[in-house]
Amino acid sequence: MKDEKMTTDGAPRIRLSDYRPPNHLVDAVELDIRLEPERTQVRSRLSLRPNPERPGDAPLVLDGEDLEILAIMLDGIPLARSEFVVSDRGLTIAAVPDRPFTLETTVLIDPSANTRLMGLYRSNGVYCTQCEAEGFRRITFFPDRPDVLSVYTTRIEARKSDAPVLLGNGNRSSAGDVPGTDRHFAIWHDPFPKPSYLFALVGGDLGRIVDGFTTQSGRQVRLGIYVEKGKEDRARYAMDALKRSMRWDEEVFGREYDLDVFNIVAVSDFNMGAMENKGLNIFNDRYVLASAETATDHDFASVEAVIAHEYFHNWTGNRITCRDWFQLCLKEGLTVFRDQEFTSDMRSRAVKRIQDVRLLRSHQFVEDSGPLAHPVRPETYREINNFYTATVYEKGAEVIRMLKALLGPDAFARGMNLYFKEHDGRAATVEDFLACFEKASRRDLTQFKLWYSQAGTPELAASVDQRAAEGTLEITFEQSVPATPGQPKKEPMVLPIAMGLVGEDGRDMLPEVKCEPALKNGVFELDRQRATIRFSGLKERAVPSLLRGFSAPVRLVSNLGSDDMLRLGALDSDPFNRWQALHAVMMKVLLDHQSGRSPEGSPTTADLVAALAQVGADEALDPAFRALVLSPPGDTDLTREVGHDVDPDAVHHAVEWLRELLGRQLGSTLEDIYRRHASNEPYSPDATSAAHRALRNAVLSLLVATGGDDATSLAGEHYRRADNMTDRMAGLLALSRLRGPVLDEALEDFYGRFRDDTLVLDKWFTVQAIAPDEDALDRVERLTGHPRFAMSNPNRVRALVGAFASGNPVQFNRKDGRGYAFLADHVLKLDRQNPQLAARLLSSFRSWRVLEPQRRELARRELERVAGMDGLSRDVADIAERSLG
Ligand code: ARG
Ligand code: ZN
Repeated sequence: MKDEKMTTDGAPRIRLSDYRPPNHLVDAVELDIRLEPERTQVRSRLSLRPNPERPGDAPLVLDGEDLEILAIMLDGIPLARSEFVVSDRGLTIAAVPDRPFTLETTVLIDPSANTRLMGLYRSNGVYCTQCEAEGFRRITFFPDRPDVLSVYTTRIEARKSDAPVLLGNGNRSSAGDVPGTDRHFAIWHDPFPKPSYLFALVGGDLGRIVDGFTTQSGRQVRLGIYVEKGKEDRARYAMDALKRSMRWDEEVFGREYDLDVFNIVAVSDFNMGAMENKGLNIFNDRYVLASAETATDHDFASVEAVIAHEYFHNWTGNRITCRDWFQLCLKEGLTVFRDQEFTSDMRSRAVKRIQDVRLLRSHQFVEDSGPLAHPVRPETYREINNFYTATVYEKGAEVIRMLKALLGPDAFARGMNLYFKEHDGRAATVEDFLACFEKASRRDLTQFKLWYSQAGTPELAASVDQRAAEGTLEITFEQSVPATPGQPKKEPMVLPIAMGLVGEDGRDMLPEVKCEPALKNGVFELDRQRATIRFSGLKERAVPSLLRGFSAPVRLVSNLGSDDMLRLGALDSDPFNRWQALHAVMMKVLLDHQSGRSPEGSPTTADLVAALAQVGADEALDPAFRALVLSPPGDTDLTREVGHDVDPDAVHHAVEWLRELLGRQLGSTLEDIYRRHASNEPYSPDATSAAHRALRNAVLSLLVATGGDDATSLAGEHYRRADNMTDRMAGLLALSRLRGPVLDEALEDFYGRFRDDTLVLDKWFTVQAIAPDEDALDRVERLTGHPRFAMSNPNRVRALVGAFASGNPVQFNRKDGRGYAFLADHVLKLDRQNPQLAARLLSSFRSWRVLEPQRRELARRELERVAGMDGLSRDVADIAERSLG
């Protein structure tokens, strides 16, 4: 067999172009699930019929994995052994009736042994499920693909003491005791046909909070959030976020909730963030639980965003789902776009945009420029779980944002409404989606569609030529899309370039000049490789502000000088570009430092410091915005800009040098801000209060960069005085940079306070994993032996091993290669338990090729060691091979 079709582990390579409709459809599913820790029995009754789109004699093909078969009956008659074939992938029945029929199966599964956390498993004694993408096949035999939509009725039974709470999808139709036993049951019915990946159930001894919501058309919805007993109070903020999400989706997208119940359950062992199961969202508890003492402002914001994200999936994902997993961005990119918009409306739009772009650049751009690069809609995969990526999610959201920019808000809204109308209750494709916008806008989106199929971050070069004497300004744009794995040649894309011209006093000069070709709402559409835009009639020197609001996910390179950038930083009416301009100058200074030039006393550095002082101290500006301006680029940012033969020590050194310089030269301004933004009010997680803390803590971080005793006492004081987790963590992080006995005391104090609080203790592990000092790896190795460390808890693994590999670039990329070996060892160990998590960790190697030769060689060796191991999971084999490919 050629590795064209099969991979080394024998798993088939799945291709979008091979899509075929299912042989059979399932109209109704009846499940009877008897929960037992080690022997859960699942009886299923499927009402099947041949798919009219398929040939009549097609066999019935059901997926199934790790199921112990007890019985199979077709139309009520037990099947003989010769009538079906079982493999480790599922069940095939060659001869089935050419008319509707039923199939009943009874299987046994072991939730306690399910360490992959896919299918039905136990977390902290709670039975829960995770079925996306292909977990339902680990519960029962089923055509486990998103284009098979069925109506589910689920009876769940358990011992009352074991699981007093029993939850399922949809509405609860009945419940009661099983007479003569210590057991009880609940029956849940979900009237909306759904794919199997949206199935869920929960059984456990959980605490809960309840609330209600009345939809715009008057439906009364009972809301419940279920958490570990004793933590109910920490779910209040999530409940509030849920209600705001429900209202917002009605107001902004016209989407109303459709069941009488909406439940959320928080569990402590979860591979990802959360899951949008119909009417029963299951969450990693870190995205539900939050209180002043245990969660930072950032945690609160994440809770709000993830609650919203999962809720919004009810329409973009559940009511309209994906035809196949290649269409994942259809629900994820769109839903991320929706949750970004929600946060922008709840908080500051400008700040949210800057944060999102930082994330996009540090994750998606990095992914897109390395061996794991793939299009927003991939065309082939071996393991779909490896495609829940920054590209599908975050770049997927950028694509929707560009669509809106190109069509304008009205046509965009019409397109969305058409999509909801035409595809409700169906499994759709990206083509279906785009067709709605073509109809709504009468615009041909053929070229736009390249954003879904071409991987790689386009580079946009802008060359500005201004003739002051003639009052003209020309900008020539040129785009190029780099080659990526499997895609050597690219076509030009359509890039919406939002722009302005900034005058000496900061005013927008566009209205007073002539522009050829004319801009549409301030947007220039570049749809060729190269194009020129020409402004005339300028009465003074203008500075073009390009790609406002980051209107396209590209790398912009322009010939504007630092003086022009600093004008934008001081005056641009677009806050994103103000931030961007200041950061671009910081980046320039960092690159100079990196390449051995000494920018310490240069005029650019002096002007930069003055500009930062001005913005930093400007009390008319949002403190959260100022906090972002005062957070200089980090190691990952600089690494990305350097781009090749990176020496992580030199990068780290440059980043630290700039922070120290800013701390020193901005000293009195920073101290002033620090004093002025102290609060006497009790903690509140709202955006305004959080903004003051963000600014103060950004300032703290620069002040302590100067080192010395003053820094230590400031950080120590900050830690001790903290009356909330945001400030406590800021103090601890600051101390972790300084090292010494004050840090040790603080770590001990923190441990003492939170030793029994798993989620909070994750922070304690992370602080120690990401401190960039020489001892980091020894410390992390030691902590893997700590009694509170557990390989079975994904949050803990991410907090320690993951944080070290992705949050401590200088120590992970140690010159002796020990960081790489450490990670590879843990990936291999973890792979036997939880392949999905192991594969995630392994993708920390995604930019190994940009390293200088010695490290590159060491990283390659570790990747090869992993790839060469026998018995690897498909998840890890896929990442290892693609990383080396
Ligand atoms: N659909 C979920 C979300 O984005 C993510 C689930 C991913 N699960 C997985 N096993 N890959 O909200
Ligand atoms: Zn999602």
